[in-house]
This record gives sequence, C-alpha cells and structure tokens, in this order.
Amino acid sequence: MREELNALRGDALRDIAAAADLSALEQVRVAITGRSGRLTQAGEQMRHLAKEDRPEVGKLLHEVRTAVTAALEARTAELSSAAEEAELAQIDPTMPGRARAVGSLHPLQHLQRRAVEIFRRMGFALAEGPDIETEWHCFDALNTPPDHPARNEQDTFYLPDGRLLRTHTSSVQIRTMENRTPPIRIIAPGAAYRRDEVDATHLAQFTQMEGLYVDEGVTLGDLKGTLEYFFRELFGSDAKVRFRPHFFPFTEPSYEIDVRAAALGGGERWLELAGCGMVDPAVFAQINERRGDQAFDPDKVTGFAFGFGLERLAMILYGVPDIRMFVENDQRFLSQFPS
Ligand code: DAH
Repeated sequence: MREELNALRGDALRDIAAAADLSALEQVRVAITGRSGRLTQAGEQMRHLAKEDRPEVGKLLHEVRTAVTAALEARTAELSSAAEEAELAQIDPTMPGRARAVGSLHPLQHLQRRAVEIFRRMGFALAEGPDIETEWHCFDALNTPPDHPARNEQDTFYLPDGRLLRTHTSSVQIRTMENRTPPIRIIAPGAAYRRDEVDATHLAQFTQMEGLYVDEGVTLGDLKGTLEYFFRELFGSDAKVRFRPHFFPFTEPSYEIDVRAAALGGGERWLELAGCGMVDPAVFAQINERRGDQAFDPDKVTGFAFGFGLERLAMILYGVPDIRMFVENDQRFLSQFPS
C-alpha cells in the first residue's frame, strides 16, 4: 500500500505538470480524485488494512492528498492565467480607436450661450414669451401706434384671430413686467418673424436677444456700462462701443450701438449691432393700466432695454457670407464650428 501511494503521488504530480491546458488538467483531476479515481480508491482500501498499519498509511494518504490538491490548484492558476494572456494577445492595442462622432452646437446656439453666460454674470436671468403674440404685447404696450409701419400686414404674419408672429423679442419685456415687479433684470433670446423676402441678409424667421433692467435709479450710465462690458467680453478688450442717437417707440432716449473690434473684420469699420434706450414712461403707464396697480410708477422706477439680432452678430464674427447658411443644415457648413 505504501509503495502504491508513493507511486500514485509520483504519477499524479507528473500528469498534473504535463497537462497542457485546463481541459486536460480536468481529465487528470478526475482520474485521481474523481469518484473512481486512484486516490479515492486508495482511501477506500484503508478499511482492508490491518489495524496497526492504519495510522501510518493514513498519514501517508493524507500527505499524498495534500500534495496532489496543492499541485492541482497551482496548475489550474497557471493554466488559466496563460489562457487569459493568450486571449489578450489577440487584441491589438496599437489599433486606432473608433472615433465617436459627437455633434457640435449650432453656431447660433453657441453664440447665444456665450451671450447669455456674460449677462448672467451681471445678474440677468433668462425670461421667455410666446412666439405667437397679441398685437397689444408686440406693439401697443410698446408704445407703437396703429399707423406704425411695423404693424403693416406686409411686415409680419397675422393669424386669422388677429394674433401675429412676434416681430421682435421686445414683447418679452411686456410679458415680464405684466407678471413681475421691480427689480427686474432679464435676458430673453428667441425667435422673431418678419415678412421679408429671403435673401443673403434676410430670413423670415431669425433670432434676437432682448434685455430689460428696471429698478429704482437705473441710469443711462448703467445701460452704457452694461453693454460696453458685454461687447468687450464677447469680442475682446479692444472692442470700442459707440452709442448713436436713434428712435425706437418704446425707449426715450434711444440709441443704436456700433461696435468695432479686431474680432469684427479687422476693426476698421463701425458695425451697427444693437438697439437700446431708456424705457419710455409711456410703456410703464401701459403696464400699470393692465396690472391695475402702480408697480412701475414712472416717478419711482426707471429702466433700460436693448435688443440685437444673433444672426447678424454671428455672420460678422464667424465671417458667414449668407444668412441662409444658418438654416440649410449643411454638414459641411455646420461642422466648421467646433464647440
Ligand atoms: N426691437 C427692436 C428691433 O427689433 C430692437 C430693440 C431696440 C430692442 C431698442 C430694444 C430696444 O429693447 O431698447 O429692431
């Protein structure tokens, strides 16, 4: 029995070492420790031994079993890590990765976000209003009389019920003042519509950005400081901003804003970019009447407003020659704007 066990140990350790892969090793294991394996059978033979031989042979059997089990475990670990390495060797780590085509923001959206971000830093919050507006919100409340050319049927799109597609985002000024009380500091980007012939510089739907600041003691100095800061942040610190007297029905005094900067076509020309002014007290009067209170008492509060078109700004900033490119969705155009 003793020789048999020693031989068994020798054979087992040799077979284990020789097993070339995990399935060969499994066969070896079954042949040794399986139900009718050699080691299992050796264990069963213990019963037939003389009583006095049992302790010694039992000890040897235990040693053999321990050695064989340890060898099986070690070889299993060795072979499975070899299998894993072989699998990894089939992966070519030098192969270039698959590029994911992540889209980019539309240039107008990109510019709008930049603009909003600058105004947010100055405490302006986003506001919005409907694209389909009443004449009152779009014109009357903005001190624009019925005979004003902007109200001509040829100038915007009217719905059968008399409502219209807003011709400017200035209607959001009215929507905001109807529902809130000073201090108000809002920025309102959004679509505006006009019945223009579509050409290289006109679209029937375009994008504007409106601003309104109403509080006690708001001055023309605040207006100039705010917009100068905005344009310098947007175009660079070399940007020069000029306020040229103009007329808008809803502001008094009113200005057009001209800007020149290296970022804007070399900075040689003054470019007209926005309209602005101090909110006309007649606008506050309309709001108070509609609200039925004196929340916008012209003797207590003053305000400034401004508005500009994003397409025009983007065309100059990015050198886009035709406004229609913004709506054609041509990948060759859009993919030129990283964001
Ligand atoms: N709504 C004007 C337009 O569409 C732009 C404008 C001018 C907005 C002066 C304003 C403003 O808020 O104060 O041409």
